[in-house]
Amino acid sequence: MDVYEAVTSRRAVRGFTDRPVPREVLRRVLSAAARAPSGSNLQPWHSYVLTGGPLAELKRRTGERVAADDAWDEREYEMYPPTLKSPYLERRSAFAEQRYGALGITREDLEARQRAARANWDCFGAPAALFCYIDRDMGPAQWSDVGMYLQTVMLLLRAEGLHSCPQMAWSVYRRTVAEILSPPDGLVLFCGVSIGYEDATVGQDRTDRAPLHETVTFVEG
Ligand SMILES: Cc1cc2nc3c(=O)[nH]c(=O)nc-3n(C[C@H](O)[C@H](O)[C@H](O)COP(=O)(O)O)c2cc1C
Repeated sequence: MDVYEAVTSRRAVRGFTDRPVPREVLRRVLSAAARAPSGSNLQPWHSYVLTGGPLAELKRRTGERVAADDAWDEREYEMYPPTLKSPYLERRSAFAEQRYGALGITREDLEARQRAARANWDCFGAPAALFCYIDRDMGPAQWSDVGMYLQTVMLLLRAEGLHSCPQMAWSVYRRTVAEILSPPDGLVLFCGVSIGYEDATVGQDRTDRAPLHETVTFVEG
């Protein structure tokens, strides 16, 4: 698979089969992903890979919290600015419309949207997941390094015939994740990434992108 195909075929997949992901494939992907760039080569990512019993236990414990409507853990970072201005607000609305519209859920039906969102904490059925942490004292540039690393992981997964879904949603139950992973105190959970083989019976529309001129300015001679 060439890089263009990896980039264009990557999607946030929200339905996986239970076909296990071979350990050696995950090791190969994560070894290659370590080549991702980072300022001064700090490599500020700390990944934990979960499969089998430990992942099942995480899903079980989180599922209990979700079912009990347990309050979310205190945030360690803001997922979004408190007020989103244009054009981000419109892009977020369009995404929500598309995601929940495809499930037949209307804009007003917040409860149904929340129900659909619960699949996050089952990793959408995925048999493997990666949890990516970053040191608490790292700044925006290092958070950006972690983003590049995660995209590298997700593209390499495509080369292995696998799909993924990055999920900040896991950060709201970070204490339960920490119960299973026991990360050192100084680390902040950025996000989880569900990993597995796509369940093609779960239909999903492709998300749109803004036209190039909205996000790129060419200054040409
Ligand atoms: C850092 C990050 C966190 C995300 N968190 C979630 C999440 O918690 N749950 C989810 O279903 N999708 C999540 N997504 C997926 C985005 O919704 C998705 O990438 C975006 O809508 C573009 O769609 P595409 O990835 O299918 O191209 C996240 C994506 C990123 C990059």
